[in-house]
Amino acid sequence: MSSASSHHYIYVGKPAYIKELSQEVGSVSGIYNDLLLSPNLVKTAAFALDIWADVVISPFESISQAANLLKSAGVYWYFHPIENVRRGKLIQEQLRSLPSLESTFPLKKPLPPIGCYTLLDRHTLAYSNKRLKKWPSGHCYFIEDKVNPPNRAYLKLWEALTILDKIPQPNQTAFDLGASPGGWTYVMQALGTKVTAVDKAPLDKKIANLPNVSFLNQSAFALDPTQLDTPIDWLLSDVACYPERLYELVLKWIEAKAAKSMILTIKLQGETDFAMLDKFKALPNARVLHLFNNKHEVTFFYPATDALLLPSL
Ligand SMILES: C[S@@+](CC[C@H](N)C(=O)[O-])C[C@H]1O[C@@H](n2cnc3c(N)ncnc32)[C@H](O)[C@@H]1O
Repeated sequence: MSSASSHHYIYVGKPAYIKELSQEVGSVSGIYNDLLLSPNLVKTAAFALDIWADVVISPFESISQAANLLKSAGVYWYFHPIENVRRGKLIQEQLRSLPSLESTFPLKKPLPPIGCYTLLDRHTLAYSNKRLKKWPSGHCYFIEDKVNPPNRAYLKLWEALTILDKIPQPNQTAFDLGASPGGWTYVMQALGTKVTAVDKAPLDKKIANLPNVSFLNQSAFALDPTQLDTPIDWLLSDVACYPERLYELVLKWIEAKAAKSMILTIKLQGETDFAMLDKFKALPNARVLHLFNNKHEVTFFYPATDALLLPSL
């Protein structure tokens, strides 16, 4: 018997950011390790690595009963372990094997829809096949490039572009603010995009010499977007700066209509400044998300694509 009359949502968080996630979600009916159960749908929760919508909570007796419930609700299921891990895995053994989640960037073929389930206790299954992220629970399974990029920052941009579901194209244009040593610039130029890297510090030499890369050795805040002849396709920023300063920069670029898509890292300091994050979130068509590869920072997307919103809810 499922509790169909009331709505349930599950928010997946990172253990270090459960406090932030609880604050954003507001009404929380249970916290199970990194999962928050709530009757509320808060589409703007930035600290949710994934959101499970229309969660079914169902008591069950046997492993096969639980497996049958899942089989009748979808094809592929990912077990998100919190407790009763062995029992959850026994259920998994009765389900169809998941396709490989590992991938190079950009993804060669789209993943099929994958539902997620967990055991809230020994006899209670919670599951959903309507989720925000394509990869289960918002994790990333990239096969890393350990040769070309000068640091691991490239993983943030790989993730951001993948969940945005929009890949830069050859001959598009990009500004990469706070680009050095050049991980993001490397990602863009490898896709054939013409990148202008902007930083007060130098680019790694190997990156500076790559095709499609030019370098402006100056502050990102001194750029005047109204001076551009045509809008650029991508504005990227990973500048280490206070969120207030980045917000002013964003407004300037949005008002000038100077960039078609923006992906910017908002660096957080100490206690999370929700008032500041709310200002970013309140910009029409914007989305703020804590990525799997984000540390003490969140990522700002503008404009958000459908892939960043829970469809039809
Ligand atoms: C986290 S690093 C960027 C890493 C880079 N995205 C990558 O993939 O290699 C932050 C960068 O912001 C730069 N930065 C700080 N203030 C800046 C400013 N006013 N204008 C441009 N760059 C700035 C720093 O020099 C530093 O290179």
